[in-house]
Amino acid sequence: MTLENFCRKDIKKFGGPIVLTGATGILGSAFESIIPAASTISLGRDVLDPHRLDNVVATVVRAKPSLVINCAADTDVEGAEDAPERAFAVNVGLAGALAKGASEAGAAMLHFSSTGCYGAWKKEPYDESDILRPTTVHHHTKAIGEEAVLKAHNNALILRLGWLFGGRPGQKKNFVWSRLLEAEGKPEIGANPQQRGNPTSANDVADLSLRLVEENINGIFNCVGSGVFASRLEYVSEILKSAGSQTRVKPVEFIRKAPVSPNEAAVNKMLAAVGFDVMPPWRQSLGCYVQKLEDYRRRMMI
Ligand SMILES: NC(=O)c1ccc[n+]([C@@H]2O[C@H](COP(=O)([O-])OP(=O)(O)OC[C@H]3O[C@@H](n4cnc5c(N)ncnc54)[C@H](OP(=O)(O)O)[C@@H]3O)[C@@H](O)[C@H]2O)c1
Repeated sequence: MTLENFCRKDIKKFGGPIVLTGATGILGSAFESIIPAASTISLGRDVLDPHRLDNVVATVVRAKPSLVINCAADTDVEGAEDAPERAFAVNVGLAGALAKGASEAGAAMLHFSSTGCYGAWKKEPYDESDILRPTTVHHHTKAIGEEAVLKAHNNALILRLGWLFGGRPGQKKNFVWSRLLEAEGKPEIGANPQQRGNPTSANDVADLSLRLVEENINGIFNCVGSGVFASRLEYVSEILKSAGSQTRVKPVEFIRKAPVSPNEAAVNKMLAAVGFDVMPPWRQSLGCYVQKLEDYRRRMMI
């Protein structure tokens, strides 16, 4: 079944459109590209005021959705250390209000969290039985946001994601695009050899999460690209290798304001338990994505 068919079928099944938030972001744009526009009600900052949560709930209810997909988040990890209220308002308050609206409307709820929430207490990749001990303000708010969503919606589906890649060329926070431009004409660039995680395709996440919704699967799941996790250095090296770049990647430790865990790696243990350990290998998805960006650069002569 194609995703387009899925969406049509899903709308018929639930009897309403899909409310999508965060459509201008990396993950939201992946959903936007696979859900037919006519089926989507995209809600942006103009209507999602995290300081007027009753309005947010009412807006969702009025839309009579079949499914609410929340890709809106405050993802400024460094900035959250200085502005915790802003991160809390979006990652907890807004997330909870969207879930409440979905629940009152009788809609399914799909929300996203981060494998960074597990913290820094383990050397091996985390699974869902591991407790959350977030080390940054951002990850604290994401962890509390999970609770807010589950409290407001009995059957919410929450996916804890790895290092997301995807989006349009030049899009804000497009990590892969930024590395390709950074490497242009340079003999070497730097990346952190200590920090570990799972590069994860936004398109693969969007694809799988719609399948999970279709199967009425709910609860909390890690959802990361399959294959062995990588250090940031290995990840950046793979990006440049896929682009055929001669630029070398040297180990550099970046000083960050936010004490991000050096181990954000995870395994999709619960997805395997429900028969959906089907995330494609991240190197394969990354290779395809880099090729698309390189084709674009050639066409646009960037
Ligand atoms: N990127 C990663 O590596 C990563 C890793 C793990 C988990 N995640 C999770 O995956 C989800 C999607 O992340 P992403 O990478 O796609 O984020 P992103 O590219 O930073 O996009 C965030 C989206 O949220 C919107 N937003 C922010 N504040 C808002 C507000 N007050 N009201 C309404 N919309 C607001 C932004 O809108 P504007 O365009 O108006 O700013 C944007 O559309 C998030 O839950 C994130 O925590 C991401």
